[in-house]
Amino acid sequence: METIDFKLEAAKEALKYIREGDTVGLGAGSTIAHLVRLIGEMPALKQGVTVVTSSFNTRQLLLEQGFWVTDTALLSTLDIYFDGCDQFDRELNALKSGGGIHTQEKLLAAMAQRFILIGDGSKYVDRLLVTVPVVIELIPASLLLVQRELQRLYPDARPQLRISNKKDGAVITENGNLLIDIWFAAFPPVAEINPQLKAIPGVLETSLFYQMAQEAIIAGKNGVTTVRP
Ligand code: 5RP
Repeated sequence: METIDFKLEAAKEALKYIREGDTVGLGAGSTIAHLVRLIGEMPALKQGVTVVTSSFNTRQLLLEQGFWVTDTALLSTLDIYFDGCDQFDRELNALKSGGGIHTQEKLLAAMAQRFILIGDGSKYVDRLLVTVPVVIELIPASLLLVQRELQRLYPDARPQLRISNKKDGAVITENGNLLIDIWFAAFPPVAEINPQLKAIPGVLETSLFYQMAQEAIIAGKNGVTTVRP
């Protein structure tokens, strides 16, 4: 029996949103990789769009496919930004925790006229679940202060400095910072998470994309569905 690649199906739907002349942001992950290849198969569209990405791996793929890629620092607006996520809820609050590049991703999401989540149906939950951590990027000098404040704010949570499994030491982000994965026993009210975390000096950005996405394209056994908050 032929198996359907749901991520590819979601990417095919996303392709329909892109117009020649658009400035298009592309995030990270396997669904986005499908979208890059699909755009790459359409020479006029590929030549006609300006692309930017939050992800090193997506950038490599774009360059391999012959795209000319612009830089986030050169832009303040985008027509459209597509990205995957680890999980999103029915209000389209999304956790983008695994990749550790949420600061770059949030810049592009905030620039975009339309920020669209794409992926397979496994990402969609009614309310965000604590099976995915909230991740913060923090400047190295703030580590002990941030750990102290996390303990005070969330005594039941488990904050873990992200350690590299490839080398002996902490993961250092592309911005030269550290990451802490906060494993909550139960989420605080979702609207309060970012204001609380971002009020801690040294915290740069969180992996919770609160009320940022306008739409989600998900594909599953019942076909491709568009979700709006
Ligand atoms: C990581 C992310 C990625 O966008 C997400 O994991 C990509 O998922 P997939 O490979 O299923 O498209 O947000 O934090």
